[in-house]
Amino acid sequence: MNELDALVDSARQGFEQAATPADLENAKAVFLGKSGRITELMKGLASLSIDEKKARGAVINQAKQAIEAALNARRQALADAELDAQLKAEALDVTLAGRQPGQGGLHPVSLTLERIEGIFGSMGFDVAQGPEIESDWFNFTALNTPEDHPARSMHDTFYVEGGTATAPNLLRTHTSPMQIRHAVQHVNAHRALLDAGETMPEIRVIAPGRTYRVDSDATHSPMFHQCEGLWIGANVSFKDLKVVFTDFCRTFFESDDLVLRFRPSFFPFTEPSAEIDIQFQSGPLAGRWLEVAGSGQVHPNVVRNMGLDPEKYIGFAFGMGPDRLTMLRYGVNDLRLFFDGDIRFLSQFQ
Ligand code: DAH
Repeated sequence: MNELDALVDSARQGFEQAATPADLENAKAVFLGKSGRITELMKGLASLSIDEKKARGAVINQAKQAIEAALNARRQALADAELDAQLKAEALDVTLAGRQPGQGGLHPVSLTLERIEGIFGSMGFDVAQGPEIESDWFNFTALNTPEDHPARSMHDTFYVEGGTATAPNLLRTHTSPMQIRHAVQHVNAHRALLDAGETMPEIRVIAPGRTYRVDSDATHSPMFHQCEGLWIGANVSFKDLKVVFTDFCRTFFESDDLVLRFRPSFFPFTEPSAEIDIQFQSGPLAGRWLEVAGSGQVHPNVVRNMGLDPEKYIGFAFGMGPDRLTMLRYGVNDLRLFFDGDIRFLSQFQ
C-alpha cells in the first residue's frame, strides 16, 4: 500500500471512530485542516518540477477527494443516528387511547327546575325570571308587607349598601316579588284592552330562581331555591289551585296515590292562605305529612299593586321549594350536600 492509500485509510478509521459531530470536526482538522496532512503534502509540491508537480498533484487530489467523501459519509451517518435517537426519545404511541374529557351534567336542583318548568309549561304556564337583588318595594311592601310588619322578621336577609327602598337594596327572600313584576308587565302589555273595559288574557306564570335568607342548618341554606306560581283571571278559584297543584305533585313524583293537604296558614300577600303538605302512600316516606309549598288566594291589596281591580280579577299564588322537592325525590337528607360542590355526590344524579 502506498503512502497516500495509507493516509486515506487512516482518515477513514479516524472518522469512523468519531462518535459525535464535534469529534468528527477534530478528526477532519487532522487531515484536511490548514496544517493537516493533505495541506502538508501540497506544500511539498513546491520543490518538484512542473511534470512531477502535475503527476504528484493529481494523486494527492485523488486522496483528498477520497478523504472528503469519507468525511461526508460519516457526517451523514452521524446525522442519521442523531435523528434516529431523537425520534426514539420523542416517540408518540399513537395507538394509546386518548384521555376522555369528563362528561358534565345538570345539578340535581337544575334537574328539578327543568322538571317543574316542563310540567307547568304543559299546563299553559309561562316561565319568568327576575332579579336576585331586589327592592324593598317588590320584596315586601307591594306584597302587602309594609315596613315594621312582623312577617318581615321571618325574612331576615342581606342588605346591599347604598340602596334605597325603591331601588334594589336587598337579596330577595322569596320569589314572590316576581308576582308583582310579571303582573305589572302583563298589565302594561294589555293596557289598551283594559282601558277599553275588556278582559285581558289570564296571567299564568311560574318564576323559579335563587332566594336568600339568614338561615343555615341541615334543611336551610343562606341561598336556596324557590319557584313562584301565579294564576290571575276573571274567575280563578281556590279549586283551580287544588287541581293544578295536585296534578303537579302527582306528575313530579310519578305517583297517582299521592295525597295533598291544604293546611290553614298566614301570609300577608294571600287571603285565605294555606301550607300545602303532601303524603306518600308507599315508599320510605309513606305516612308522613311533608310541607312543600305556601299558597293562597292573592290578597286584594296585592292585586291592586299589580295595577288590576280586585273586584274584577282574582287568583291564587303559591311558592314552593325546589331544593326540598329534590331532597324528597332522591331521598337526600342534608340540603347542604347540594351546594358543597362535591363531584362524588353530584355525579350520582347523571
Ligand atoms: N313567599 C312565601 C315564603 O317564602 C311562600 C309563599 C306563600 C308564596 C304563599 C306564595 C304564597 O305565592 O301564595 O315563605
